[in-house]
Amino acid sequence: MARVVITGGETGLGLSLVRAYTDAGDRVSVICRASTPELDALTPEIHAGIDITNTAAVCRAATEMGDVPIDILINNAGIMIDDQIESLHVASVRLQFEVNALGPLNIALAFRKRLRRNSKLVNISSRLGSVGDNESGGDFGYRMSKAAQNMLTSNLAIDLREEGIVVVAAHPGIVATNMTGGKGTHPNEVARDLRATIEQLTAEATGRFIDRFGKELPW
Ligand SMILES: NC(=O)c1ccc[n+]([C@@H]2O[C@H](COP(=O)([O-])OP(=O)(O)OC[C@H]3O[C@@H](n4cnc5c(N)ncnc54)[C@H](OP(=O)(O)O)[C@@H]3O)[C@@H](O)[C@H]2O)c1
Repeated sequence: MARVVITGGETGLGLSLVRAYTDAGDRVSVICRASTPELDALTPEIHAGIDITNTAAVCRAATEMGDVPIDILINNAGIMIDDQIESLHVASVRLQFEVNALGPLNIALAFRKRLRRNSKLVNISSRLGSVGDNESGGDFGYRMSKAAQNMLTSNLAIDLREEGIVVVAAHPGIVATNMTGGKGTHPNEVARDLRATIEQLTAEATGRFIDRFGKELPW
């Protein structure tokens, strides 16, 4: 039984990830702003009232959880604001940085001492955060914040390599959640694929940007 921590597990892909791990018999703790009946039905270990941009709140969640080793830590919570060049506001870009880049940093710093050799830290990223793959522009704040999150992944992979902690960025594909207005692959299917891929990750995978099947993507 793996000990798993997931952010933003009350809806969308996060809820499906919680389901995939609890169905497999793993013990899942969730960090979220507010729980839902669907999440309550899956796990009793819910740390609600936690905004991942709030460093003190994230540290409180880590303290509440106790000094337990964590096998898999998934930074899933994120936001996407539709900001295109004609309607672009720095405030919107800043907000996406706060949630998509600094949120995962808050979580990584608060939980890193609970990670052990062979533990896995998975940052749910997006192809839109890839500089090498950017052919269509737009989505400024989302692209910029996920690119910053990707650098966090790359840097953590290097700095935690000696400790044997595997750190990757994972693009889930286009998932049918609130973020996409329900377009894309069913989140349960995506979560099952991600779980299987995360299961297979070895030390050699650390520092990679992968899709949900484990295929490497350009940074
Ligand atoms: N859907 C896609 O096609 C797609 C593609 C590529 C990558 N992704 C990534 O996949 C992840 C999950 O997205 P999704 O599609 O499941 O979106 P979603 O349905 O909108 O869910 C986003 C989750 O993040 C949480 N969250 C947002 N801001 C937060 C904050 N400040 N503190 C704590 N939790 C916060 C939300 O909680 P609340 O309910 O409290 O708002 C919600 O649980 C995101 O990182 C997203 O960037 C999604």
